Amino acid sequence: MQCAAYSPFFKNAYSTDVFFVITFQPYLGGEAGSSVGFTMCKGICRRTYRGIVVTLCLLFSLYVILYPYNNTFPPAVNCPRGFYVKAELRPHLQRPPQDRAGQGAGGSAFALQPMSPEGQKEKTQGFAKSRFNQFASDRISLHRDLGEDTRHPDCVEQKFWRCLPNTSVIIVFHNEPWSTLLRTVYSVLHTAPAALLTEILLVDDASTDDHLKKPLDEYVKQLKIVRVLRQSKRKGLVTARLVGAKAAQGEVLTFLDSHCECFTGWLEPLLARIAEEPTSVVSPRIVKIDKDSLKFHKPLPGLHNYSRGTFDWKLTFGWDHSPPNEKIGRKTETDPIRAKWSPLPGL
Ligand SMILES: *[C@@H]1O[C@H](CO)[C@@H](O)[C@H](O)[C@H]1NC(C)=O
Ligand SMILES: *[C@@H]1O[C@H](CO)[C@@H](O)[C@H](O)[C@H]1NC(C)=O
Repeated sequence: MQCAAYSPFFKNAYSTDVFFVITFQPYLGGEAGSSVGFTMCKGICRRTYRGIVVTLCLLFSLYVILYPYNNTFPPAVNCPRGFYVKAELRPHLQRPPQDRAGQGAGGSAFALQPMSPEGQKEKTQGFAKSRFNQFASDRISLHRDLGEDTRHPDCVEQKFWRCLPNTSVIIVFHNEPWSTLLRTVYSVLHTAPAALLTEILLVDDASTDDHLKKPLDEYVKQLKIVRVLRQSKRKGLVTARLVGAKAAQGEVLTFLDSHCECFTGWLEPLLARIAEEPTSVVSPRIVKIDKDSLKFHKPLPGLHNYSRGTFDWKLTFGWDHSPPNEKIGRKTETDPIRAKWSPLPGL
C-alpha cells in the first residue's frame, strides 16, 4: 500500500490562517472570519450596533484562535502539541534482519528454480487451492522487507499532528495459507506505529484447514496484541468483519485482506484523514503483489493516473479513472481523491 489520500492541511506548517478558515467553516457554513463581521454590519449600521457587532466579532475571533487549545482535534487535550517525531511512530515490532539475497527479498520476484517433480506437484496444488503461487509464498520470509521507501516525496515528507486515533486492524480469513496470513500480520506489526495500533483481530470465517486452528491460536499468543476470533459457521466476509468490529477496542476500524503486505507509512495518512473528518471512510492507494511471482509492485515516486472505486445502483463495485488533478483541485500527491458514486451502471 502506498501513501493514502491526504490533505494539505497536515502538510502545511501549523499556521493560524489555515486553521482559522478550517475551524470557521463548520460554524458559519463557508466564509472566513472577517467577511462575517462585514455581512452583519451591513444590515444594522447604526453606531452603537456597530460597536456591539465589532466586539462580538473580536470575541468570536478570539474564540476561534483559542479553539485549537480546547478541542480534541487537532491535538487532543492531553497530547503534546505539534507533529509526531520519528521515534514516536516506531512500529510495534522491529523487523528482524533480512537476508538480502533471500527469495522475494526487498519485494522482488520469487526466482524460478529447476523444480523437482514433488516441487512441481506442490506448486500446482498450491495454485489450485489458493489461486496464487503458494509454493513461492511459503519460501519467502514472513518478515520480508519491501525495500527502500519509493513513495512520492510529498508522501515521504508528510508530517502528522499528535495525537492520531488508534486503530484495531481486522483481518478476515477462510482457509488462508499460513505464510500469506502470517506475512500480513507481521507486515502490520513491522510498519504500524505501536502507539496507534491497539490490536490485530484475526477473524476466522469457519476455516477447515488444521493449521488455522490450534497451531494458529498457539502461535499468536507470543505476538501479544494479536487475537483470533472464530465463526463456527461460514457466513461470509461482511458478517465476519462485523464480528471483528464488535470486538474491536481501538477508536478506528481498519480492515485488511488476509494476504497483503503494508508499505512504509501506510497507516498514518489514513488515520489522519479520519481525525480530520471522523465520518469519512478512507482507502489507501493499493498496489499489486503478483500472484505468480509474489513480486511487490512498489509505489513509484512520479505522478500517476489514479483510479478510484465506484458503485453502481446494484452496489457492484468497480474502478474508474480519476479526473486529472486540476479538475478535482488536487495540488499535491497527498491530496485526497473523492470516491465516486456512479448514478448509472457503467458511467
Ligand atoms: C486508544 O485511544 C483511546 C482514546 O484515547 C484510549 O483510551 C486507549 O487507551 C487507546 N488504546 C491503546 C491501546 O492505546
Ligand atoms: C495520464 O493520462 C493522460 C490521458 O490519458 C495521458 O496523456 C498522460 O500521459 C497520463 N499520465 C501518466 C503519468 O501516465
